[in-house]
Amino acid sequence: MKRIYLDNAATSWPKPEAVLAAMEDYQRRLGAPAGRGVYREAIETERIIAEARRRLGELLGVAQANRIIFCGGCTDALNIALHGLLRAGDHVITTVTEHNSVLRPLRFLEETRGISVTRVACGARGIIAPDDVRRAIQSQTRMIVLNHVSNVTGAIQPAVEIGRIAAEHNLLYLLDAAQSAGHLNITASELGAQLIAVPGHKGLLGPLGIGVLYVGPGVEAELASFRQGGTGTKSEDDHQPESLPDRYESGTHNVPGIVGLAAGAQYVQKTGLAAIRKHLRGLTELLLSGLREIKGVTIFGPGDAEQQLGVVSIAVKGFDPHEAAAALDGAYHVQARPGIQCAPQMHAALGTLKTGGTLRLSVGLLNKEAEIEAAVQALAELARSASG
Ligand SMILES: Cc1ncc(COP(=O)(O)O)c(C=O)c1O
Repeated sequence: MKRIYLDNAATSWPKPEAVLAAMEDYQRRLGAPAGRGVYREAIETERIIAEARRRLGELLGVAQANRIIFCGGCTDALNIALHGLLRAGDHVITTVTEHNSVLRPLRFLEETRGISVTRVACGARGIIAPDDVRRAIQSQTRMIVLNHVSNVTGAIQPAVEIGRIAAEHNLLYLLDAAQSAGHLNITASELGAQLIAVPGHKGLLGPLGIGVLYVGPGVEAELASFRQGGTGTKSEDDHQPESLPDRYESGTHNVPGIVGLAAGAQYVQKTGLAAIRKHLRGLTELLLSGLREIKGVTIFGPGDAEQQLGVVSIAVKGFDPHEAAAALDGAYHVQARPGIQCAPQMHAALGTLKTGGTLRLSVGLLNKEAEIEAAVQALAELARSASG
């Protein structure tokens, strides 16, 4: 039976052929580190990394490519920003929709560094009201951290409006673009975000273990380097270089990851964000409308393809989410993600924390309508089996 992969919010699969080919070509033909050798392959690798940096900058509307920091993923990017910026006495505003990659560093910094945090509640459909963010501002507030798109409900947050509030109050604005990158337009200046954390392996269709942090102009003056080490530059000095990107990029680069991410980003650019959004909106509408017809299925979040991306959380009456996911895979080879999805406060807000979370179906660019129809059919049979 063919695999129907609907766990794209965790990581996208399959990857475009161009991504696999670029990674293989680098590893077979070059296989060198960047910025550390004078032989042909090392110089070529350096050129490839510079081009990847430029491409990622272009995708985020950033002309200064040295403001694109390659890192280990979105969690890594968020940690570099939060640990590097926050100091004792700082107040941070975030939301209950956040992933643990924001909640946990903030909790850690509350307990170890003496920062304070306000977690703004969302409405019944999982959307944050900008006015609630405005009301949470205190004299000590230094930063707003927002999850652009929920990995539980797919809800698209009013990131531009919240960016405006940050700008009006001269606050740092860190956007977690884990679910939106590659799906929505993320132009740093339009969003008013000085910091954007981006995974390479989800909507940008690259491999696991690579991501990007955008560091806006002037932020580096406040952003301490989180880890130090070799950069291949100024090697005679045992101080970390101040210049970007070296200040935040220590150690031999994950070149296969960077090459794959650049090829994924190029695929996204060639396809076009408007076409991607249209395709995903169509698949999401198909999924939502099918699910609405199934007796015993509850949909959480907006339930509207205009207000959400292709992430849909449901409950199936008579099934614990883990049982439902196992049954779907076992009998139909439909692959979805059960549980809390690393977002405990989002589930507390939805009332699903105590019921084991939800069953999350998440569509990707390479999914086809027929797969969504087959998944809906499988869920209908599953729901019927519980009532029959
Ligand atoms: C909203 C959100 N933020 C952050 C992350 C962490 O991303 P990564 O796995 O690339 O570290 C995820 C991953 O699922 C996510 O959904």
